This record gives sequence, C-alpha cells and structure tokens, in this order.
Amino acid sequence: MGHVEPETSLFSPIQTSVHVPDSSTPTSSFADALITSRQNISPKRLAEPGPNFSQLDQIFRSAASAPDHGLVKPWRFVIVPQDKRALLAEVFAVALVDRDPGATLEQIEAAREKAHRAPTLMLVVAQLGVCEPPIPTMERMVSVGAAVQNMLLMAHGQGFGSSLTSGQAMQSNRMRQLFDLKEGEEAICFLNIGTVSKRKAQRRHPEVTSFVSTL
Ligand SMILES: Cc1cc2nc3c(=O)[nH]c(=O)nc-3n(C[C@H](O)[C@H](O)[C@H](O)COP(=O)(O)O)c2cc1C
Repeated sequence: MGHVEPETSLFSPIQTSVHVPDSSTPTSSFADALITSRQNISPKRLAEPGPNFSQLDQIFRSAASAPDHGLVKPWRFVIVPQDKRALLAEVFAVALVDRDPGATLEQIEAAREKAHRAPTLMLVVAQLGVCEPPIPTMERMVSVGAAVQNMLLMAHGQGFGSSLTSGQAMQSNRMRQLFDLKEGEEAICFLNIGTVSKRKAQRRHPEVTSFVSTL
C-alpha cells in the first residue's frame, strides 16, 4: 500500500509544488541567458525610444526588490528629463573648468554633450548618512549595487541597452547642488537606458576559479 502524507506534513502537495529549479530547467537557463548576455552599451549607442512609463515603472520596481538589510532603502534615483539636460550639461562643463581651468572649448563642449545622450538618464544616489537601524555603510552600498543591477537586468529583459557612467564631476559641489543632495548622500553614477543602435562584442567574463575558493 502506498504511503499517504498528512496534509500538514512538510511533504504535503502544497509544499512539494514549490519547485527549486536545477540547472537544467528553463527557469535557470532563462536567468543564465539574461544575466550573462547583459552588457554595457555606452550612452552614445543608446537611441530613442527609451522605456515608456510602464516599462520605467517596472525598472524601478526591480530596484525595490533588491536585498536591503534593515529595509533602510539606501538608494534613490533622480530622472533627468530632456528639458533639464541643459542644466546637467552646464554642471559637466563648469565642473571640468573647475578641475582644469585650461580645458579647451572642444573639451568643454564634449563634456556638455554627455548630458544629451541616452533617452533615459538618471542619477543613482546612495543614502549613506545616519540610519535606523544602523546598517553599516558597506552593506548599504551592496544594496545600492544590487538595486542598480536589478534595473540593468530588467531593462535588458525589456530589450533595451543600458550603461553606467561616472567621472570626476560626480564629486563636484555643483552636481550636489543640482540634485539637491543632502548630508550623507553620494552621487554614485548615472544610469543610461535606450534602444541599442550599435553593439560591441561582449567582453570575456572572468573564470569562476579566479574569484572562488573553498575554506
Ligand atoms: C558605479 C559604476 C560606474 C561606472 N562608470 C563607468 C564610466 O563612466 N565609463 C565606463 O566606460 N564604464 C563605467 N563603468 C563600467 C561599465 O558599467 C561596465 O560594467 C564595464 O565596462 C564592463 O562591461 P560589461 O558591463 O559589459 O561587462 C562603471 C561601472 C560602475 C559599477
């Protein structure tokens, strides 16, 4: 006679329906394909259209599902719409001249131009000031990175290209002023999203053995 498990057992039908995929299931190969095929697409290769409102909402919701110790939400994102790109361009240009008063007109123009590239551009801000509960700064930075990676993967899954851009202007006071950064907040990078106009060959990812060991 077959063995019948009681309904409350760990092996009840409800429990056994929770399926942990192994490496041969479509779910894990989808995740593998999505993650390993994502690549940085530089902003100059990101054309219109960018994500629409509901796609962008989905991208932000993916950030909200990042691991977050203490649920302190140590990230925020500031979208720079097209009609505000000139303000950012000015910050890039003046921050360059602050750093290098001898910058040529051509270099200043190139700095300005960077603000006008991707259809969707946003600043990634890390909130690293006093928080309750007091989660270590490095843990909060891991959360910010995880949120950003979720967003890159979501955009990639939607069929868009994306990239992260930073540079010395990130640390400038002019940048802090434009984005109204508060004490404890840091401008980490810009996240760019759009339609891929041209793709480079994907870089070779490092071998697992180069970064994994067993104690
Ligand atoms: C916070 C952050 C900022 C970055 N800023 C730049 C940047 O300004 N310019 C750049 O070429 N790559 C930058 N990168 C690296 C690219 O995003 C990308 O990860 C790298 O070129 C490797 O390419 P892949 O993502 O296609 O593997 C940055 C990465 C991070 C995590």
